[in-house]
Amino acid sequence: MFPYDRHRRLRKNESIRSLIRESHLTPHDFVLPIFVAEGKNFKEEISSMPGIYRQSLDNTIKEVKEIWNLGIKAVNVYVKVDSSLKDNTGKEAWNPNGLMQQTIRAIKDAVPEMIVMPDVALDPYSIYGHDGIVENGEILNDPTVEALVKMGISQAEAGADILAPSDMMDGRIGALREGLEENGFHNVGIISYAAKYASSFYGPFRDALNSAPVDSVNIPKDKKTYQMDYHNAQEALREVEADIMEGADIVMVKPGMAYLDIVKLVKDNYNIPVSVFQVSGEYAMIKAASANGWLDHDKVMLESLTAFKRAGADMIFTYFSKEAAKLLG
Ligand code: PBG
Repeated sequence: MFPYDRHRRLRKNESIRSLIRESHLTPHDFVLPIFVAEGKNFKEEISSMPGIYRQSLDNTIKEVKEIWNLGIKAVNVYVKVDSSLKDNTGKEAWNPNGLMQQTIRAIKDAVPEMIVMPDVALDPYSIYGHDGIVENGEILNDPTVEALVKMGISQAEAGADILAPSDMMDGRIGALREGLEENGFHNVGIISYAAKYASSFYGPFRDALNSAPVDSVNIPKDKKTYQMDYHNAQEALREVEADIMEGADIVMVKPGMAYLDIVKLVKDNYNIPVSVFQVSGEYAMIKAASANGWLDHDKVMLESLTAFKRAGADMIFTYFSKEAAKLLG
């Protein structure tokens, strides 16, 4: 008998294909990263991320309402901090009236059910553009963790639902969990950037926040002493395991498209919800190629997002959230 098996039977039309489909993408899979800036009625497109803006709080709130109506249930908040507020300690990060804290309160006030996930990391607040305190050319671990705990608690006080530490210091999940418990924030969760790689795909994000490591003597030019080496996969399991033991509620793999093997590895080895971050450079690549007419924007966008679901991601941080939610409608 030839052919032995006819796989094409189950592909012969859209009806049968939809019946046997294994992964599904819906607007509530998405978390939209947002960039908030000082000012009023301010909105500025990030040149390397067409369609994504730094915007003042009033405009941010309009957007949050709009995406809620599209079915998106969570936002990941970043703030663009004025250079005059940056230093080596990151202390603006726990200013109770800082831009981040104001933003969290305003979002929870406008759309109480929106899950607010503030970024926990010092880089937007650091004069050196690092996710930690720098001394003698080194990013200090334990003093940075102490700063992150102050930052996380102030975000919880402002009403954050789930803290999103993206810094990759050792021990910060346990320290944040302990800090939250001691202060009565038992229901504030932690989504840990557990397997975050030192990646060149973050370029446009660092433009957005003006947060790239500065080029100066005795300041490391990259983040390789804390973010993971992209040659490694087993190490991601050790990172994830540590963060689960320390109290993470959800773990993350970042970046996304070049790291689908890691998403699958984590999903297959642990029973904790897994998130993936399709980062700024991935977004920029698809935007640039489609602007040139080299790729079909919408089709490539949905294919890339579905691949995350197929690999095992439970939720996807993506700058395409709004456009994809509109298409999936
Ligand atoms: C830094 C941080 C980065 C991103 C999120 N938080 C960049 C970095 O590690 O330098 C990248 C997001 C993106 O590229 O979309 N704490």
